[in-house]
Amino acid sequence: MNREDFPFLKTGKIYFDNGATSLKPSAVIESMVDYYENYSANIHRGDYEISLKASDIYDQAREVCQKFIHADKPEEIIFTKGTTESLNKIIFGFFETHLKKGDEVLVTKAEHASLLLPLMILAEKIGIHLIYMPLKEENELDYESFLSSVTPKTKLVAIAGVSNVVGDHRPLNQIGRYCKENQIYFLVDGAQSVPHTKTDVVRDNIDFLAFSGHKMLGPTGIGVLYGKKELLEEMKPCEYGGDMNQNFSSLGDVTLKPLPARLEAGTPPIAEVIGLKAAISYLEKIGMEKIEEYEEELKEYFLKRIKEVPQVDVYNASVKGGEVIFNIHDVFSQDAAIYLDYFGICVRAGTHCAKALKEELPVQNTVRISFYFYNTKEEIDKLMDVLKQSDTLYNVIL
Ligand SMILES: Cc1ncc(COP(=O)(O)O)c(C=O)c1O
Repeated sequence: MNREDFPFLKTGKIYFDNGATSLKPSAVIESMVDYYENYSANIHRGDYEISLKASDIYDQAREVCQKFIHADKPEEIIFTKGTTESLNKIIFGFFETHLKKGDEVLVTKAEHASLLLPLMILAEKIGIHLIYMPLKEENELDYESFLSSVTPKTKLVAIAGVSNVVGDHRPLNQIGRYCKENQIYFLVDGAQSVPHTKTDVVRDNIDFLAFSGHKMLGPTGIGVLYGKKELLEEMKPCEYGGDMNQNFSSLGDVTLKPLPARLEAGTPPIAEVIGLKAAISYLEKIGMEKIEEYEEELKEYFLKRIKEVPQVDVYNASVKGGEVIFNIHDVFSQDAAIYLDYFGICVRAGTHCAKALKEELPVQNTVRISFYFYNTKEEIDKLMDVLKQSDTLYNVIL
């Protein structure tokens, strides 16, 4: 699908590490070059044409993001530098003052460091308890596990929409409905779900959502913090500076601007916001449902073909979606990744920033393949050819 739009693919390499970051289409790169070459001004400050143009496109990008995740209002979209910053701001800017000692927060061991670590720090600071929901056989989270973990003390559920290791699509709609009916906050780490599935924060009753542009065809250095307006109004800014204040004096009386400006201090990543806007337009042209379906098809094809390679163990075969984790028998995952790179195949190896999951997996480290819509069955065929020859790898290593 649309492979000619991706300059990197002209190198002939196979890129299977989309969970880490995606490739960028020319439309995104060109939108940023256009800004830098033709209207590279700061926003919301200048009274001249190119500044007004930059401001206009920046503000349009907010609306594009709003519609993409089906949020109610543009001011519910706050630009950050990525999922990590969004999650930290949500946890320390909102939950530090809205949770109290003894409150329970439901998470899983499969969550990314950028969600678990700030929550662990908050637990130490204010005495909340992190409750790890039980995971199923291949480390998926289902609704029953969630229900079995809820207690009257549950005040927040904080999970990824799609796990970056196992790749399971969490039952956001069911969990969101339960949370709404029971006055529990619902925070979703959308780093892996927003790029690959249709997101609807209203349908799924999501209170806060975080995601990164670079995993969905956009540039690095740009992310989104979504929050329901009434919750963002109560959020404490973690940064203070220009463009977020209405007025201040030497006496220390400070008036902040309304949302979204009060949560975006200083000069924002303008070119990156413009790139993200182009990325979302690109994804929308293809259609998120089509992307999700195609990635599932690629995984099914992988699983069918991998049966021909008995020296490979797959650890998440029953999980739908576009991620596969596996190992070659007796080969350390990083060695396998280096071996595949020798044949021009880029994969991820290790614990994938979800180190607590090591406690559950049968192995400590795995190779991860994460597909995107530009991957093909022919690329999987090439991977199989290389994996079949991996007997040669034993000779190198042993
Ligand atoms: C599930 C998940 N959450 C959060 C992150 C952090 O994203 P970023 O590094 O873009 O801030 C990642 C990145 O891999 C991820 O996969």
